Amino acid sequence: MELRLEKTAGLYVSDRGLRALADLVHDYSGICIGPDKHQLMANRLRRRVQDVGLLSLDDYGDFVRADATGEEIETLVDLMTTNHTAFFRESEHFTVLMQELAPTLRAAMPTGYPVRVWSAAASSGEEPYTLAMLTAEDQRRDPLHRWVLQASDISRRMLDVAVRGVYSMDSVAVVPPDLLPRYFERGVGAQDGRCRLRREVRAAVSYQRINLLDAHYPIREPQHVIFCRNVMIYFDVDTRRAVVERLLEYLVPGGYLVVGYSESLTGLVPRLSSVSHGVYTRS
Ligand SMILES: C[S@@+](CC[C@H](N)C(=O)[O-])C[C@H]1O[C@@H](n2cnc3c(N)ncnc32)[C@H](O)[C@@H]1O
Repeated sequence: MELRLEKTAGLYVSDRGLRALADLVHDYSGICIGPDKHQLMANRLRRRVQDVGLLSLDDYGDFVRADATGEEIETLVDLMTTNHTAFFRESEHFTVLMQELAPTLRAAMPTGYPVRVWSAAASSGEEPYTLAMLTAEDQRRDPLHRWVLQASDISRRMLDVAVRGVYSMDSVAVVPPDLLPRYFERGVGAQDGRCRLRREVRAAVSYQRINLLDAHYPIREPQHVIFCRNVMIYFDVDTRRAVVERLLEYLVPGGYLVVGYSESLTGLVPRLSSVSHGVYTRS
């Protein structure tokens, strides 16, 4: 069945073409795009299809498959990711980290050893920078409390935003008033209405691109805490299990995996036990 998606630009696609594109996205990133999301997918891809000089989404699928550089599949997936995030999102996790997990981890480590935290689906940076502010506060209180923070995402577009560290004043409204001036500088002139994380906060997080579906992650040191929040909701259960198993290889025994409030891992893999809402520990 041919489905006409845009009358004026003449962008056409068949159901088979839509399914083929959804399969490409799923095989590369784990993101599931059901038939109810096909129209959304078409809307998001329309501009890109036209930019590469094509008239149909079916042809675009062929174009992605024919691209030996692998760049077009990255672009396709990038356009299909949902990047919603916020400073202090699901904030109980940050409280638990600072008040319970870090003290427990420190008690088992020599004094002065850093706690390593990885934000594994960091989107535009609000999650790792929330960690950066809170861990900087912790270190101000006790200089022996060292932290090493890293962050990753599949989307280069989002990583660019994260590295820049510029946000609207609206998006920082949730940052506690005492932290805001300490960690952000307000934009002036053309940057009015925005603010930028201070250089030290930006430098506290190292970013790299990581696809959670890859067989190996370029993470050199075992992590004490991995935040992998609000990404596995887009995966099917087999992908979720495989990703969690792989993440655990990068977590120290007794370390913690933190997932979104709506992402239960109970019963998914045997090595995990629940600590609190969305927080699991690796045995
Ligand atoms: C909804 S955001 C979550 C951001 C943040 N963790 C939070 O909870 O606010 C989901 C992020 O997962 C990323 N993502 C999707 N599939 C991925 C994959 N296979 N590997 C790594 N990141 C992925 C997307 O690019 C997006 O930035």
